[in-house]
Amino acid sequence: MTHQNRSQWDAGRFLETLTYFEVIPFLSCLKRLFTNRAKNKTETQGGSQIMGVILVAGATGGVGKRVVRRLIEHDYQVRALVRDAERAREILGEKVELFEADITLPDTLTPQLMNNVVAVVCCTGVRVQPVEGDTPDRAKYYQGIKFYMPEVVDSPEIVDYQGIKNLVQAAARSLPQAASTVLFDFKHPTDQLKETWGAVDDVVMGGVSESSMRLIEQAALFSGNVSTANSGGFASVRTRNFDSPLNLTEYEGIELRVKGDGQRYKFILRSEAKWDGISYCYSFDTEKDQWIDVRVPFEALIPVFRAKTLPDAPAFDSSHVYALQLMLSKFEYDGGLNPNFAPGAFALQVESIKAYGGATKPQFIMISSAGVTRPGRPGINLEEEPPAVRMNNQLGGILTWKLRGEDAVRESGVPYTIIRPCALTEEPGGKGLVFEQGDNIRGKVSREDIAELCLQVLEQPKACNVTFEVKEADSFNSFHNWDSLFSSLKLESGDK
Ligand SMILES: NC(=O)c1ccc[n+]([C@@H]2O[C@H](COP(=O)([O-])OP(=O)(O)OC[C@H]3O[C@@H](n4cnc5c(N)ncnc54)[C@H](OP(=O)(O)O)[C@@H]3O)[C@@H](O)[C@H]2O)c1
Repeated sequence: MTHQNRSQWDAGRFLETLTYFEVIPFLSCLKRLFTNRAKNKTETQGGSQIMGVILVAGATGGVGKRVVRRLIEHDYQVRALVRDAERAREILGEKVELFEADITLPDTLTPQLMNNVVAVVCCTGVRVQPVEGDTPDRAKYYQGIKFYMPEVVDSPEIVDYQGIKNLVQAAARSLPQAASTVLFDFKHPTDQLKETWGAVDDVVMGGVSESSMRLIEQAALFSGNVSTANSGGFASVRTRNFDSPLNLTEYEGIELRVKGDGQRYKFILRSEAKWDGISYCYSFDTEKDQWIDVRVPFEALIPVFRAKTLPDAPAFDSSHVYALQLMLSKFEYDGGLNPNFAPGAFALQVESIKAYGGATKPQFIMISSAGVTRPGRPGINLEEEPPAVRMNNQLGGILTWKLRGEDAVRESGVPYTIIRPCALTEEPGGKGLVFEQGDNIRGKVSREDIAELCLQVLEQPKACNVTFEVKEADSFNSFHNWDSLFSSLKLESGDK
C-alpha cells in the first residue's frame, strides 16, 4: 500500500486514546488537572461502588446508626431509609445517602428507594418509651425497659408486622438475583459510570475505525464504524483499569444483557494492570434487534496477545479483574475471519454486565428479638423471662407482631437472615457471641456487636435463610470465628 492510497490516520485520536487510558501518565496528569477529575472519584470504581447499594431501614436507631457507620467504614455504598432527613443528617453525618420514607406507608417505598439496592438491613422497631415521656438524649430509653415503665408509641401490628411486610415485599420486587452481582447497570447509570468506558479502535495500529460508548435511555450504546482500510478492522470500548481490581473468584463468569445487529462481538477481560497485556476473549453472536443474555464462563476465555492465541498462558485469574472490553473485529483468532462481520456502521446496546454463578448471600437482614415465640408458649415461667415477654400484652403484643413480621420475611422468597438479639446494651463491642436456635436463651448483647454481626451476615452464604438468637458469652473473647459460628446454624425448619 502506497502512502497516497492509505486512508488518513488520525494521530490526535491515537494520542487521545492513550491519554484516556493513562498509558501516557504525564499527559493524563495534565488532563486530570484541566478537567478537575479528582483522583478519589475513580478510586472506588472497581470496588463496592459499582457493586450496588445497601439499604438500611431504621438507620436513626441505636442499632441502625451503628450499622450505617460500619458499612461506610468498609466502603459500602449506603442508603438510609429515614423518617426525618434533617434529624438523620445530624445522627449519621454527610457520607450517607438519605431517603425519606416510612415502612408503614407502602406508597413511600418507591422504585427509587430500591434503585441499585443489592441488600437491605432492617433495624426498625416500634418506639417504646418511658410512660412519663421520652428523654431528649434517649439515654434512659437505650438502657432498656428493665429500667423504666414502658409504653409503645405506635402500633406494633402496623410497624413490626405490616411495615416489615411492606418493606420486604418492596425489596422482593426489585432486588437482583441473589447469586449474581451487578458490575455495570446501564439502566440506572451513576455519574462515575459515564467516565469509565472509552474507545480503543484500530487507530492504535494505524487504522481509521471509530467507535464510542454512550448512555442512551435504559442502556449503553456501543456504536460506530469499522473500516478495514490501512489493514485495520476493529473497534472497541474498554474500561479504565479499576484502581482496586475486582475479585470475582466466587463467580463462574460474566453475564451480558445485550441487543445487537446480528454481528459477532468479543467480550474481553484483563487480569493485569498493563495496557498491552494478555487479553482473555470470548466471542458471541448477537440477534438483530433482540435482547439476549450472553454468559461468558471464565473457563471458556481464550488468552490472546496481539491477536495471537496463547495456548500455554495461565487460565484467567478472576481474583484480579482490572478491565473489561467489548469489541467488534473483522478477525476471530490467529488471523481467522469473523464469519458474522460486515464493515461499516454497527450498534450494540448493553443493559447490564453482571458476575453470575456466585453463592447466594442474605439480601434481607431483619433485627428481630429473642423471646418472640415465648408469649403464650406452654411451660414458660414468666418470672424468669425478660420484661418484653412478661409485658407483651401491655405493650400491644410487641413480640407477637414481631414474630408475624419474621413470618412475612420468611415467606417473601428473598434470601434472608433473621437475627434475634437478647437485651440490647450500649456497652462497647468486641465480646464473644453465642448463637442459638429455638428461642430459649436469655442474656444481653451490645448494639455494637449486633452491627458488626450484620456486616458479617451480608457476606456470609451460610447465614442464608436462618433465624437465630444471639447473646454475649460469659467469658470475654474479642476474636470471633465467624465461620464456625455460622456453620453451627441449622437452615429453617419448624423451629422459629
Ligand atoms: N431494646 C432491646 O433490648 C431489644 C432487644 C432485642 C431486640 N430489639 C429490637 O432490635 C431492633 C433495633 O433496636 P434499636 O434499639 O436500634 O431500636 P430503636 O433505637 O428504637 O430504633 C428503631 C428505628 O426504627 C425506626 N422506625 C420506627 N418506625 C418506623 C417507621 N414506621 N418507618 C421507618 N422507620 C421506623 C426509628 O426511626 P425514628 O428515629 O424516626 O423513630 C428508628 O430508627 C428493634 O426492632 C428492637 O425492637 C430490642
